Amino acid sequence: MKRWLTITTSSLAVAASLTALFMATARGGRSYPASASALQQSSGKNSPGDLDRWRAAEKSIDPYGLKRYPPHPPGAPNPREPMHRFGGRGRTSYGGPTLGMSFVTFKRKMERQRAAVDLAAQKRLTRVFDLRCRFRKGVTMTRGKPIAIGPTAKLPRGIKSWQAFAKLSPEQIRKRGLFPYAPLAHPLHSTAHMLFPPSWTRVHPEHKRFDVGFDIPECFLPEFPPPLYLTTHRELGDVTRGVEITYANYFEMFNGLLTPEQMEGLRLLVTPFQTTWFNATHHRVTAKPSQGVACFSCHVNGHTNGAIELAPDARPNYARLRVDTPTMRGNYAQLIFSSKRSIRSMDHFAEVEEYFDGDTAMQAAIGGRTLQRAQTNRMGDFNAIIDFPPAPKLDALNRLIPSKATKAELRGEKLFNGKARCSACHPAAQHFTDNTMHDLKAERFYYGRPEGPIKTFPLRGIKDTPPYLHDGRLLTLEDTVLFFDIILQTRLSEAERSDLAAYLRAL
Ligand code: HEC
Ligand code: HEC
Repeated sequence: MKRWLTITTSSLAVAASLTALFMATARGGRSYPASASALQQSSGKNSPGDLDRWRAAEKSIDPYGLKRYPPHPPGAPNPREPMHRFGGRGRTSYGGPTLGMSFVTFKRKMERQRAAVDLAAQKRLTRVFDLRCRFRKGVTMTRGKPIAIGPTAKLPRGIKSWQAFAKLSPEQIRKRGLFPYAPLAHPLHSTAHMLFPPSWTRVHPEHKRFDVGFDIPECFLPEFPPPLYLTTHRELGDVTRGVEITYANYFEMFNGLLTPEQMEGLRLLVTPFQTTWFNATHHRVTAKPSQGVACFSCHVNGHTNGAIELAPDARPNYARLRVDTPTMRGNYAQLIFSSKRSIRSMDHFAEVEEYFDGDTAMQAAIGGRTLQRAQTNRMGDFNAIIDFPPAPKLDALNRLIPSKATKAELRGEKLFNGKARCSACHPAAQHFTDNTMHDLKAERFYYGRPEGPIKTFPLRGIKDTPPYLHDGRLLTLEDTVLFFDIILQTRLSEAERSDLAAYLRAL
């Protein structure tokens, strides 16, 4: 019976393809495309019914209890439900360079809904986090900005302590909706793109958006401007002396320190280029046209100001992860770049940097960056000499020097390499990264779309780069420690978590 079916379907397929061939020729078309498809079809591997069968089977976003993405033209406010509750396929992979309305209408519409958009983002944060800034005397980033102390996550009602919380199973936490560290969306996820914090827009008003404001309070962001250390000039310490490097001053600041090739790379890193939504056409979110955005507009002084974007590696736009700007410090010691794209070199990163969200139609309309290979190579040359900040308590293998470290830091180091399991993925001698990607499977703890494997970011100089994780959902190092305690189910005590955070600040 089975055999009979096979013979019949394949002879049907042959008959169908012969008919198709005949028809194509009879219509007077060129016969070779038709005969090529006839050949494929007669092999039986690509019969005309395949696409129908695939369509019928293509629906499985159910296991995660997800909804289909709603339509989201640019400017649509975020849906009421968290973004990670949606999944699957969008209508199209392609965007367009037109607004569908005049710039004046777009701007007015955005300004009218702005207050509601900002309020929704604040509510999303304050529902799970206590956003008051708490500091501890003498605990600062490299150039002196006080470090906010956490955890900021609010203990769910009815739970006595985080230790009691961590004893719950992933299913219990998910069922009762208790996980404080679910993914963070862009406050305006439909338009999305670059969003700069006030510390930046105060100095660079040309990057102020009229449609959405930055959501995370400034005490949870990196210091501005941050210091810059060069691998080639450790004797100089911070070569910026507290000044932001710009196109106007880079030459004077670096002449006599860099090679001509590195200098050219630095020049390009501080040169503004056109980018979607920050440009001279009417397709923009700034009141006035501008020259665009430089690499150092986010990676200021080779570090980060905490500006956010959406990772360009998925469609539809609502499926893209929010990404917090990583530092460029210590890129020389890394083998893969970006959270999910696994880009294999710094030159390549500069070449493909997604100023256009990976949207080639947009790029054509707004004006491409037109960087040549030789130029992105120079940008890589400069990137390669940006050092981690000093860590005076670490030896050559990145172990604490006992005479310089506190008791708490030493206890933290022991936990890091033992009970807390951190060193499995963050080995000390390799700048605390295993240079690969891991799937932390955080979706065990919340109903939502899995985020998949993400690059292990290095932990050297980690005190300077809050907020943490690819989307910045962990506002402090204490939140990070708590997050991993829950994820890895290591069940640390409060004192142990505090020691671990003290250790991380020493790296
Ligand atoms: C909107 C601000 C912004 C601008 C402008 C920007 N970047 Fe980035 N950069 C980011 C974000 C966000 C990521 C993380 C992307 C991801 O995880 O997929 C990133 C990642 C990187 C990385 C990988 C870092 C790592 O640790 O994996 C490199 C290298 C980099 N950028 C270089 C550049 C260069 C070169 C330019 C200029 C051509 C540039 N960036 C412009 C925000 C920015
Ligand atoms: C299974 C591997 C693995 C283990 C074990 C692990 N991490 Fe990570 N770590 C990662 C990955 C992957 C990321 C990036 C995740 C993301 O961005 O979504 C990360 C990110 C981090 C970050 C944020 C880095 C940044 O730049 O934002 C910190 C801090 C951190 N880990 C500390 C720890 C500590 C402390 C422990 C132990 C308690 C630990 N990790 C255990 C893989 C691991």
